[in-house]
Amino acid sequence: KRQDHGLSRDLYELMDEASLYFQSQLRQHKDKQKVLDYLEFRGLSEDVIKHFGIGFAPDGWDGLLGRYRQNQTAQDKLLTAGMLIQNDSGKRYDRFRDRLMFPIRDRRGRVIGFGGRVLGDGTPKYLNSPETPIFHKGNELYGLYELKQRHRDPQHVLIVEGYMDVVALAQFGVDYAVASLGTSTTAEQFQLLVRSAKEVICCYDGDNAGREAAWRSLETALPLLKPGDQVKFMFLPQGEDPDTMVRKIGKDAFEALMQQAMQLPEFLFDTLSSTHGADKGALAKQAMALIEKVQDTVLQNILLENLSHKLGMNSSEDLKKKLGFAEKKPQPLNAKGLQGRGTPLRLAIA
Ligand code: GTP
Ligand code: MN
Ligand code: MN
Ligand code: MN
Ligand code: MN
Repeated sequence: KRQDHGLSRDLYELMDEASLYFQSQLRQHKDKQKVLDYLEFRGLSEDVIKHFGIGFAPDGWDGLLGRYRQNQTAQDKLLTAGMLIQNDSGKRYDRFRDRLMFPIRDRRGRVIGFGGRVLGDGTPKYLNSPETPIFHKGNELYGLYELKQRHRDPQHVLIVEGYMDVVALAQFGVDYAVASLGTSTTAEQFQLLVRSAKEVICCYDGDNAGREAAWRSLETALPLLKPGDQVKFMFLPQGEDPDTMVRKIGKDAFEALMQQAMQLPEFLFDTLSSTHGADKGALAKQAMALIEKVQDTVLQNILLENLSHKLGMNSSEDLKKKLGFAEKKPQPLNAKGLQGRGTPLRLAIA
Protein backbone atom coordinates (compact mmCIF):
# COMPACT_ATOMS: atom_id res chain seq x y z
CA LYS A 1 0.00 0.00 0.00
CA ARG A 2 2.70 2.43 1.00
CA GLN A 3 4.65 1.51 -2.10
CA ASP A 4 1.57 2.34 -4.21
CA HIS A 5 1.46 5.81 -2.77
CA GLY A 6 5.14 6.20 -3.49
CA LEU A 7 4.62 5.15 -7.10
CA SER A 8 1.69 7.53 -7.59
CA ARG A 9 3.71 10.39 -6.19
CA ASP A 10 6.47 9.65 -8.66
CA LEU A 11 3.97 9.43 -11.52
CA TYR A 12 2.50 12.84 -10.67
CA GLU A 13 5.98 14.28 -10.58
CA LEU A 14 6.92 12.81 -13.96
CA MET A 15 3.67 13.96 -15.54
CA ASP A 16 4.33 17.44 -14.28
CA GLU A 17 7.84 17.34 -15.74
CA ALA A 18 6.43 16.11 -19.05
CA SER A 19 3.97 18.97 -19.11
CA LEU A 20 6.71 21.52 -18.45
CA TYR A 21 8.80 19.89 -21.16
CA PHE A 22 5.97 20.15 -23.73
CA GLN A 23 5.39 23.78 -22.77
CA SER A 24 9.07 24.57 -23.16
CA GLN A 25 9.09 23.05 -26.66
CA LEU A 26 6.48 25.62 -27.66
CA ARG A 27 9.12 28.27 -27.01
CA GLN A 28 12.34 26.46 -27.86
CA HIS A 29 11.92 23.72 -30.42
CA LYS A 30 13.27 24.25 -33.92
CA ASP A 31 9.88 23.30 -35.36
CA LYS A 32 8.01 25.64 -33.05
CA GLN A 33 6.95 28.00 -35.84
CA LYS A 34 4.53 25.54 -37.38
CA VAL A 35 2.95 25.04 -33.97
CA LEU A 36 2.65 28.76 -33.36
CA ASP A 37 1.11 29.07 -36.83
CA TYR A 38 -1.41 26.40 -35.95
CA LEU A 39 -2.24 28.10 -32.64
CA GLU A 40 -2.76 31.34 -34.51
CA PHE A 41 -4.93 29.57 -37.07
CA ARG A 42 -7.07 28.24 -34.21
CA GLY A 43 -7.13 31.72 -32.68
CA LEU A 44 -5.73 30.80 -29.27
CA SER A 45 -4.37 33.66 -27.21
CA GLU A 46 -1.14 33.55 -25.24
CA ASP A 47 -3.05 33.93 -21.98
CA VAL A 48 -5.25 30.95 -22.56
CA ILE A 49 -2.34 28.82 -23.78
CA LYS A 50 -0.58 29.58 -20.53
CA HIS A 51 -3.68 29.14 -18.35
CA PHE A 52 -4.31 25.65 -19.73
CA GLY A 53 -0.61 24.77 -19.95
CA ILE A 54 -0.85 23.88 -23.63
CA GLY A 55 2.39 22.55 -25.11
CA PHE A 56 4.02 20.78 -28.03
CA ALA A 57 5.29 17.21 -28.30
CA PRO A 58 7.95 17.30 -31.04
CA ASP A 59 8.12 14.82 -33.87
CA GLY A 60 10.53 11.91 -33.28
CA TRP A 61 10.68 8.83 -31.08
CA ASP A 62 12.57 10.09 -28.09
CA GLY A 63 11.86 13.74 -27.37
CA LEU A 64 10.56 12.95 -23.90
CA LEU A 65 12.30 9.59 -23.55
CA GLY A 66 15.67 11.14 -24.36
CA ARG A 67 15.51 13.23 -21.21
CA TYR A 68 15.62 10.04 -19.12
CA ARG A 69 18.34 8.11 -21.01
CA GLN A 70 20.34 7.41 -17.86
CA ASN A 71 17.35 6.78 -15.65
CA GLN A 72 15.78 3.34 -16.13
CA THR A 73 13.48 3.77 -13.13
CA ALA A 74 12.02 6.97 -14.55
CA GLN A 75 11.54 5.29 -17.92
CA ASP A 76 9.64 2.43 -16.30
CA LYS A 77 7.39 4.93 -14.60
CA LEU A 78 6.82 6.92 -17.76
CA LEU A 79 5.70 3.67 -19.36
CA THR A 80 3.27 3.10 -16.47
CA ALA A 81 2.06 6.68 -16.85
CA GLY A 82 1.27 6.04 -20.51
CA MET A 83 3.82 8.51 -21.84
CA LEU A 84 5.94 5.82 -23.52
CA ILE A 85 5.01 2.82 -25.61
CA GLN A 86 6.99 -0.41 -25.60
CA ASN A 87 6.95 -2.57 -28.73
CA ASP A 88 7.16 -6.37 -28.89
CA SER A 89 10.94 -6.36 -28.98
CA GLY A 90 11.05 -4.25 -25.85
CA LYS A 91 11.97 -1.00 -27.54
CA ARG A 92 10.44 2.10 -26.00
CA TYR A 93 9.39 5.34 -27.66
CA ASP A 94 7.30 8.46 -27.07
CA ARG A 95 3.54 7.99 -27.32
CA PHE A 96 2.90 11.61 -28.25
CA ARG A 97 4.73 12.85 -31.34
CA ASP A 98 4.21 16.00 -33.36
CA ARG A 99 1.08 16.99 -31.45
CA LEU A 100 -0.39 19.94 -29.65
CA MET A 101 -0.60 18.85 -26.02
CA PHE A 102 -3.44 19.57 -23.59
CA PRO A 103 -2.55 18.54 -20.04
CA ILE A 104 -5.46 17.00 -18.13
CA ARG A 105 -5.42 17.90 -14.45
CA ASP A 106 -7.18 16.31 -11.54
CA ARG A 107 -9.18 18.31 -9.01
CA ARG A 108 -6.03 19.13 -7.10
CA GLY A 109 -4.31 20.49 -10.18
CA ARG A 110 -1.95 17.56 -10.72
CA VAL A 111 -1.32 16.55 -14.33
CA ILE A 112 -2.66 13.02 -14.76
CA GLY A 113 -2.90 12.64 -18.54
CA PHE A 114 -2.79 14.40 -21.88
CA GLY A 115 -4.82 14.90 -25.00
CA GLY A 116 -2.69 15.43 -28.09
CA ARG A 117 -4.04 16.96 -31.30
CA VAL A 118 -2.44 16.64 -34.73
CA LEU A 119 -1.41 19.97 -36.20
CA GLY A 120 -3.73 19.70 -39.17
CA ASP A 121 -5.72 16.95 -40.80
CA GLY A 122 -3.90 13.72 -39.80
CA THR A 123 -5.43 10.79 -37.95
CA PRO A 124 -6.16 10.09 -35.27
CA LYS A 125 -7.16 13.71 -34.71
CA TYR A 126 -6.78 13.30 -30.97
CA LEU A 127 -4.65 10.87 -29.05
CA ASN A 128 -5.44 10.51 -25.36
CA SER A 129 -3.50 9.03 -22.48
CA PRO A 130 -4.52 5.45 -21.72
CA GLU A 131 -5.96 4.44 -18.36
CA THR A 132 -3.14 4.44 -15.81
CA PRO A 133 -2.87 4.13 -12.01
CA ILE A 134 -3.47 7.89 -11.78
CA PHE A 135 -5.75 8.48 -14.80
CA HIS A 136 -9.29 7.13 -14.97
CA LYS A 137 -11.05 8.84 -17.85
CA GLY A 138 -14.59 8.26 -16.63
CA ASN A 139 -13.95 10.07 -13.35
CA GLU A 140 -12.17 13.13 -14.66
CA LEU A 141 -13.31 16.22 -16.52
CA TYR A 142 -11.04 18.33 -18.65
CA GLY A 143 -11.09 21.92 -17.40
CA LEU A 144 -12.69 21.30 -14.00
CA TYR A 145 -9.57 22.33 -12.11
CA GLU A 146 -9.19 25.45 -14.25
CA LEU A 147 -12.87 26.29 -13.72
CA LYS A 148 -12.55 25.94 -9.95
CA GLN A 149 -9.58 28.27 -10.03
CA ARG A 150 -11.89 30.98 -11.36
CA HIS A 151 -15.16 30.10 -9.67
CA ARG A 152 -15.16 28.69 -6.18
CA ASP A 153 -18.88 28.09 -6.20
CA PRO A 154 -19.92 28.06 -9.86
CA GLN A 155 -23.46 29.02 -10.76
CA HIS A 156 -23.41 26.92 -13.91
CA VAL A 157 -21.20 24.42 -15.67
CA LEU A 158 -21.26 23.66 -19.38
CA ILE A 159 -20.40 20.15 -20.52
CA VAL A 160 -18.85 20.19 -23.98
CA GLU A 161 -17.23 17.55 -26.19
CA GLY A 162 -13.73 18.79 -26.80
CA TYR A 163 -10.57 20.31 -25.42
CA MET A 164 -10.72 23.11 -27.97
CA ASP A 165 -14.27 23.93 -26.90
CA VAL A 166 -13.26 24.35 -23.26
CA VAL A 167 -10.24 26.46 -24.16
CA ALA A 168 -11.99 28.69 -26.73
CA LEU A 169 -14.95 29.31 -24.43
CA ALA A 170 -12.58 30.30 -21.61
CA GLN A 171 -10.71 32.65 -23.91
CA PHE A 172 -13.96 34.44 -24.71
CA GLY A 173 -14.97 34.67 -21.05
CA VAL A 174 -17.23 31.64 -20.84
CA ASP A 175 -14.84 30.21 -18.27
CA TYR A 176 -17.04 27.51 -16.82
CA ALA A 177 -16.93 24.70 -19.37
CA VAL A 178 -15.56 21.18 -18.94
CA ALA A 179 -15.15 18.32 -21.41
CA SER A 180 -15.77 14.66 -20.80
CA LEU A 181 -12.60 13.27 -22.39
CA GLY A 182 -13.77 11.78 -25.66
CA THR A 183 -16.22 9.27 -24.23
CA SER A 184 -19.85 9.94 -23.32
CA THR A 185 -20.39 11.76 -20.07
CA THR A 186 -20.48 9.15 -17.32
CA ALA A 187 -22.74 8.90 -14.27
CA GLU A 188 -19.70 9.68 -12.09
CA GLN A 189 -19.04 12.87 -14.06
CA PHE A 190 -22.68 13.98 -13.78
CA GLN A 191 -22.72 13.25 -10.08
CA LEU A 192 -19.63 15.36 -9.62
CA LEU A 193 -21.06 18.27 -11.63
CA VAL A 194 -24.56 18.40 -10.19
CA ARG A 195 -22.92 18.53 -6.79
CA SER A 196 -20.59 21.37 -7.76
CA ALA A 197 -22.90 23.75 -9.64
CA LYS A 198 -26.51 24.85 -9.46
CA GLU A 199 -27.04 24.28 -13.13
CA VAL A 200 -25.42 21.79 -15.51
CA ILE A 201 -25.86 22.49 -19.20
CA CYS A 202 -24.97 19.93 -21.86
CA CYS A 203 -23.74 21.71 -24.96
CA TYR A 204 -22.58 19.23 -27.56
CA ASP A 205 -21.74 19.76 -31.23
CA GLY A 206 -24.46 20.73 -33.66
CA ASP A 207 -24.31 17.46 -35.56
CA ASN A 208 -25.86 14.00 -35.31
CA ALA A 209 -23.15 12.72 -33.01
CA GLY A 210 -23.77 15.69 -30.71
CA ARG A 211 -27.52 15.15 -30.60
CA GLU A 212 -27.01 11.47 -29.86
CA ALA A 213 -24.56 12.38 -27.12
CA ALA A 214 -27.21 14.67 -25.60
CA TRP A 215 -29.73 11.83 -25.48
CA ARG A 216 -27.19 9.43 -23.98
CA SER A 217 -26.46 12.08 -21.35
CA LEU A 218 -30.13 12.35 -20.52
CA GLU A 219 -30.28 8.59 -20.01
CA THR A 220 -27.15 8.67 -17.87
CA ALA A 221 -28.27 11.61 -15.74
CA LEU A 222 -31.88 10.51 -15.13
CA PRO A 223 -31.25 7.85 -12.46
CA LEU A 224 -29.18 10.09 -10.27
CA LEU A 225 -31.16 13.33 -10.38
CA LYS A 226 -32.99 14.88 -7.47
CA PRO A 227 -35.88 17.34 -7.77
CA GLY A 228 -33.81 20.50 -7.27
CA ASP A 229 -31.11 19.50 -9.76
CA GLN A 230 -30.99 21.48 -12.95
CA VAL A 231 -29.68 19.62 -15.97
CA LYS A 232 -30.34 21.40 -19.23
CA PHE A 233 -29.61 20.90 -22.90
CA MET A 234 -28.38 23.52 -25.30
CA PHE A 235 -28.43 22.88 -29.04
CA LEU A 236 -26.12 24.62 -31.48
CA PRO A 237 -26.88 25.28 -35.14
CA GLN A 238 -25.92 22.52 -37.56
CA GLY A 239 -22.17 22.42 -38.16
CA GLU A 240 -21.19 24.53 -35.14
CA ASP A 241 -19.44 23.47 -31.98
CA PRO A 242 -18.95 25.64 -28.88
CA ASP A 243 -15.53 26.70 -30.18
CA THR A 244 -16.75 27.94 -33.58
CA MET A 245 -19.94 29.34 -32.06
CA VAL A 246 -18.37 31.53 -29.39
CA ARG A 247 -15.85 32.86 -31.92
CA LYS A 248 -18.70 33.76 -34.25
CA ILE A 249 -21.12 35.38 -31.83
CA GLY A 250 -19.09 36.23 -28.72
CA LYS A 251 -19.75 35.74 -25.03
CA ASP A 252 -22.98 37.69 -24.57
CA ALA A 253 -24.83 36.08 -27.47
CA PHE A 254 -23.49 32.67 -26.45
CA GLU A 255 -24.79 33.17 -22.92
CA ALA A 256 -28.11 34.36 -24.32
CA LEU A 257 -28.37 31.05 -26.21
CA MET A 258 -27.49 29.30 -22.99
CA GLN A 259 -30.40 31.01 -21.25
CA GLN A 260 -32.69 29.27 -23.72
CA ALA A 261 -31.37 25.80 -22.95
CA MET A 262 -34.07 23.14 -22.61
CA GLN A 263 -35.03 21.65 -19.28
CA LEU A 264 -34.51 17.92 -19.10
CA PRO A 265 -38.22 16.96 -19.06
CA GLU A 266 -38.83 19.19 -22.07
CA PHE A 267 -35.98 17.57 -24.01
CA LEU A 268 -37.20 14.14 -22.98
CA PHE A 269 -40.80 14.61 -24.06
CA ASP A 270 -39.96 16.60 -27.19
CA THR A 271 -37.66 13.83 -28.37
CA LEU A 272 -40.19 11.12 -27.61
CA SER A 273 -42.95 13.06 -29.36
CA SER A 274 -40.91 13.55 -32.49
CA THR A 275 -39.74 9.92 -32.45
CA HIS A 276 -43.19 8.40 -32.03
CA GLY A 277 -45.46 11.01 -33.62
CA ALA A 278 -49.09 10.03 -33.17
CA ASP A 279 -48.24 6.62 -31.70
CA LYS A 280 -49.05 7.40 -28.08
CA GLY A 281 -48.76 3.78 -27.04
CA ALA A 282 -45.15 3.61 -28.17
CA LEU A 283 -44.42 6.99 -26.61
CA ALA A 284 -45.89 5.87 -23.30
CA LYS A 285 -43.92 2.65 -23.37
CA GLN A 286 -40.56 4.31 -23.95
CA ALA A 287 -41.34 7.09 -21.50
CA MET A 288 -42.25 4.61 -18.78
CA ALA A 289 -39.05 2.69 -19.36
CA LEU A 290 -37.07 5.88 -18.82
CA ILE A 291 -39.11 7.14 -15.88
CA GLU A 292 -38.67 3.77 -14.23
CA LYS A 293 -34.96 4.47 -13.94
CA VAL A 294 -35.46 7.63 -11.91
CA GLN A 295 -34.47 6.83 -8.33
CA ASP A 296 -35.97 9.90 -6.74
CA THR A 297 -39.71 9.41 -6.25
CA VAL A 298 -40.57 13.12 -6.23
CA LEU A 299 -38.88 13.65 -9.59
CA GLN A 300 -40.46 10.47 -10.85
CA ASN A 301 -43.86 11.87 -9.89
CA ILE A 302 -43.19 15.08 -11.78
CA LEU A 303 -42.28 13.17 -14.92
CA LEU A 304 -45.32 10.91 -14.60
CA GLU A 305 -47.53 13.95 -14.27
CA ASN A 306 -45.90 15.39 -17.41
CA LEU A 307 -46.40 12.14 -19.26
CA SER A 308 -50.05 11.83 -18.27
CA HIS A 309 -50.69 15.30 -19.71
CA LYS A 310 -48.92 14.33 -22.94
CA LEU A 311 -51.15 11.30 -23.16
CA GLY A 312 -54.26 13.37 -22.54
CA MET A 313 -55.01 11.65 -19.23
CA ASN A 314 -56.35 13.80 -16.42
CA SER A 315 -54.34 12.16 -13.67
CA SER A 316 -51.14 10.20 -13.34
CA GLU A 317 -52.63 7.68 -10.89
CA ASP A 318 -52.86 4.88 -13.45
CA LEU A 319 -49.28 5.45 -14.55
CA LYS A 320 -48.13 5.37 -10.94
CA LYS A 321 -49.87 2.07 -10.41
CA LYS A 322 -48.04 0.72 -13.42
CA LEU A 323 -44.72 1.54 -11.77
CA GLY A 324 -45.87 -0.06 -8.55
CA PHE A 325 -45.92 3.20 -6.65
CA ALA A 326 -48.75 2.16 -4.38
CA GLU A 327 -46.82 -0.85 -3.04
CA LYS A 328 -43.48 0.91 -2.86
CA LYS A 329 -44.69 3.96 -0.93
CA PRO A 330 -47.85 3.47 1.06
CA GLN A 331 -49.50 6.86 1.44
CA PRO A 332 -49.96 8.00 5.06
CA LEU A 333 -53.47 8.63 6.34
CA ASN A 334 -54.20 12.29 6.92
CA ALA A 335 -55.92 13.80 9.97
CA LYS A 336 -59.40 13.08 8.66
CA GLY A 337 -58.55 9.46 8.18
CA LEU A 338 -58.74 9.77 4.42
CA GLN A 339 -56.06 8.65 2.00
CA GLY A 340 -53.41 11.39 1.89
CA ARG A 341 -52.33 12.94 -1.36
CA GLY A 342 -48.64 12.35 -0.83
CA THR A 343 -45.92 14.71 -1.95
CA PRO A 344 -47.20 17.77 -3.79
CA LEU A 345 -46.25 17.67 -7.45
CA ARG A 346 -44.05 20.43 -8.73
CA LEU A 347 -45.74 21.12 -12.01
CA ALA A 348 -43.72 24.24 -12.66
CA ILE A 349 -40.94 22.12 -14.10
CA ALA A 350 -43.01 21.12 -17.17
P1 GTP B 1 -11.12 20.31 -33.26
O1 GTP B 1 -11.28 19.70 -34.59
O2 GTP B 1 -9.72 20.46 -32.86
O3 GTP B 1 -11.92 21.56 -33.11
O4 GTP B 1 -11.64 19.26 -32.21
P2 GTP B 1 -13.12 18.93 -31.75
O5 GTP B 1 -13.08 18.82 -30.28
O6 GTP B 1 -14.13 19.87 -32.33
O7 GTP B 1 -13.30 17.50 -32.40
P3 GTP B 1 -14.59 16.62 -32.53
O8 GTP B 1 -15.84 17.40 -32.38
O9 GTP B 1 -14.40 15.86 -33.77
O10 GTP B 1 -14.43 15.61 -31.31
C1 GTP B 1 -14.81 15.93 -29.99
C2 GTP B 1 -13.89 15.26 -29.01
O11 GTP B 1 -13.87 13.87 -29.24
C3 GTP B 1 -12.43 15.68 -29.11
O12 GTP B 1 -12.13 16.85 -28.42
C4 GTP B 1 -11.72 14.48 -28.55
O13 GTP B 1 -11.75 14.49 -27.13
C5 GTP B 1 -12.57 13.35 -29.06
N1 GTP B 1 -12.00 12.89 -30.32
C6 GTP B 1 -12.15 13.41 -31.55
N2 GTP B 1 -11.45 12.74 -32.47
C7 GTP B 1 -10.83 11.75 -31.80
C8 GTP B 1 -9.94 10.69 -32.18
O14 GTP B 1 -9.56 10.56 -33.34
N3 GTP B 1 -9.53 9.84 -31.19
C9 GTP B 1 -9.93 9.97 -29.91
N4 GTP B 1 -9.48 9.11 -28.99
N5 GTP B 1 -10.75 10.97 -29.50
C10 GTP B 1 -11.19 11.83 -30.43
MN1 MN C 1 -16.61 34.11 -15.03
MN1 MN D 1 -18.39 16.51 -33.56
MN1 MN E 1 -13.99 21.85 -32.87
MN1 MN F 1 -16.29 19.49 -32.19
